[in-house]
Amino acid sequence: MIPFNTPPVTGDEMYYIQEAIANGKLSGDGPFTKACQTWLEETFNTTKAYLTPSCTHALEMAAMLVEIEPGDEVIMPSYTFVSTANAFVLRGARIVFVDIRPDTMNIDETKIEAAVTERTKAIVPVHYAGTACEMDTIMDIAKRHNLHVIEDAAQGVMSTYKGRALGTIGDYGCLSFHDTKNYTSGEGGALLLNRPDKQEQAEIIREKGTDRSRFLRGQVDKYSWVDAGSSYLPAELNAAYLYAQLQHAQAINNDRLASWEMYAKALRPLEEEGLLKRPKVPAECKHNAHMFFIKTAGIKERTALVNWLKEAGITTAFHYVPLHSSAAGRRFGRFHGTDRWTTGESERLLRLPMFYGLQQDQIEEITEQVRGFYK
Ligand SMILES: Cc1ncc(COP(=O)(O)O)c(C=O)c1O
Repeated sequence: MIPFNTPPVTGDEMYYIQEAIANGKLSGDGPFTKACQTWLEETFNTTKAYLTPSCTHALEMAAMLVEIEPGDEVIMPSYTFVSTANAFVLRGARIVFVDIRPDTMNIDETKIEAAVTERTKAIVPVHYAGTACEMDTIMDIAKRHNLHVIEDAAQGVMSTYKGRALGTIGDYGCLSFHDTKNYTSGEGGALLLNRPDKQEQAEIIREKGTDRSRFLRGQVDKYSWVDAGSSYLPAELNAAYLYAQLQHAQAINNDRLASWEMYAKALRPLEEEGLLKRPKVPAECKHNAHMFFIKTAGIKERTALVNWLKEAGITTAFHYVPLHSSAAGRRFGRFHGTDRWTTGESERLLRLPMFYGLQQDQIEEITEQVRGFYK
């Protein structure tokens, strides 16, 4: 049996968890949370990183920081996870879905500007599969229309666009450390803050609407409720687990990239014969091999391939059902323009097993089975 995913384990997790227990502080913002945040800030070159209990929570914080109000519009692709939209819907926003590009499955940057209205407050590019959206174009549109940019970089940890880490290009970046991601704490995430002027507001939102962070720094002699907020701190045990993963980030990245390249090479002849398509990574993007997907001719062929591989003990997964076609998507949003690619391409896409430690002989077995199917 070859699973679709197994969460990464580096071997150092127990050691750090024991250290966290010995530290006698299990709640948030202890030494391991701080160590992870410093690692993120230094590695990705951003003003401030805050660990959060999930990427969903980081997105919710970002929605509060841009001060979304009922009736505001937020532009994003429909081909994304529900949390991308929910974070803004929770604050009363209307979601405006824009079509994707078939090559990267990312939002089509050339369709965004036509979707901007007087009510538009933010754009949320989602870096699908860890491959960057066309950020220069998106940032230019945002600048000219005075819009906030919140990068959903849930899948983009360790990826870059023109040399800049994903999550550090927009005003805010949201990362995920869910156990399906390249680096994990079970459930976890981070908010990257690229706006130094928003630091105090972010700390208040994250600390239940209090100025406790200023109190802990000795800037005020007591802390109190100063604004609306919530609890967006993960426990130290999760941060200790994550710290072990971040310490091995480069090794994990290299391992995944090697698997990705192996898939790409083995499946190239099938693409050349016109039987399937492999992912495309634009030259200005360095990806993190978050996933390896192929595209079949259509949904019927995909179902047959899923079953074929299942028979061979190989677990695969398709991905998002476009949000605009769901009950909540219809209620909370609208699709701007034509759905030329979103639905059709999502029905063709199939993700093959990809995880840290995937073996060469497993990839050979998987690609051999895919070849057998097309024969
Ligand atoms: C694009 C995208 N955004 C957000 C999330 C939410 O991440 P989390 O599970 O850490 O809340 C995911 C999770 O799969 C995702 O793929």
